Amino acid sequence: MQTGNRTRLFINEVATRDGFQMEGRFIPTDDKVALIDRLSGLGYAKIEVTSFTSPKAIPALADGEAVMQRIRRVPGVVYTALIPNRRGAERALQAQVDEFNLVMSCSETHNLTNLRMTRDQSFAQLAEVIELAQAAGVPVNVSLSCVFGCPMEGDVPAETVMGWIDRFAALGVQGITLCDTTGMAFPTQVQALCTQAIARHPALALTAHFHNTRAMGGVNTIAAIEAGIRRFDMSLGGIGGCPYAPGASGNVATEDIVHMLACMDYDTGIGVQGLIEAAGMLEGLIQHPLPAQVSRAGARLKRHLPPLDYDQIVARAHGRDAGGQPAKA
Ligand code: COA
Ligand code: ZN
Repeated sequence: MQTGNRTRLFINEVATRDGFQMEGRFIPTDDKVALIDRLSGLGYAKIEVTSFTSPKAIPALADGEAVMQRIRRVPGVVYTALIPNRRGAERALQAQVDEFNLVMSCSETHNLTNLRMTRDQSFAQLAEVIELAQAAGVPVNVSLSCVFGCPMEGDVPAETVMGWIDRFAALGVQGITLCDTTGMAFPTQVQALCTQAIARHPALALTAHFHNTRAMGGVNTIAAIEAGIRRFDMSLGGIGGCPYAPGASGNVATEDIVHMLACMDYDTGIGVQGLIEAAGMLEGLIQHPLPAQVSRAGARLKRHLPPLDYDQIVARAHGRDAGGQPAKA
């Protein structure tokens, strides 16, 4: 998809779901709503507002209904939520989400750890949920965890991943998100898997979801773009992680990746400055430093003053040109 000669990319902000689920401190509902309202004006294609999971499993997001009800919905932004089971789907429908983002893992061990079900049990329940969504006219995306590896099982075979994509595609879902739950993905793997998934299901809206656990999130994003992926999950400040995946840490940071993509002339629809300001608000809410880098460093063309003794440095250097001994500092 092109806008002029600039490739359009669609960004889904996941800080208030993937991010907040990992925070020790409960973020008050009013603060969640204020942050989402701020993000709604920044140009995102989608915002993952919350999850409708068990409040025992994810206490940080126990206020999903209240948040959904109170946010200001900006036309053109899709407000989605993560759903693990039938009960979650009923709650999400009641809360009038714009999209169901269903979740299950490609790894049996991670699915059991995270969702307390075998993959077949998850699939059977999600198949019913998809019917419910279709009857209600709500689009469905499926986030597949551990696509690029599982922290407990190790490598997850590409055929296993393709098998789950095929099964959900056959049920008529609109999109699939390929999640690198604990930052195990690397660029050549991303390139191969994304190319294979696109070739197999050209009509599916495929999204990539990278965690920066091993500092490969940025380069994996480029690899995914080169393979043809146009939709990306990112988390403001780089917060995030699955509490039921050992060793998990934050998602790729929206401000870092959007900054990189702007340098490369991709059109994300989002300005970096607005993200940096929103990240400041987020840092105040979570009360610890953000892993993201661009907010600290500033955008690439941020200019710094030269050192205080710069005039002396210049005079000394020019003195050399004049052929004399450099003036003593
Ligand atoms: N929303 C609210 N409550 C829910 C719920 C949902 N989606 N699903 C189950 N519950 C409640 C049940 O009503 C039941 O309540 P009770 O104890 O008061 O009777 C209780 O939770 C246990 O229900 P059960 O179906 O046995 O769930 P479980 O304990 O086997 O847990 C999940 C299964 C999927 C609900 C839970 O593991 C979960 O929410 N996981 C999400 C993990 C997650 O979000 N990880 C990060 C994102 S990848
Ligand atoms: Zn994640």
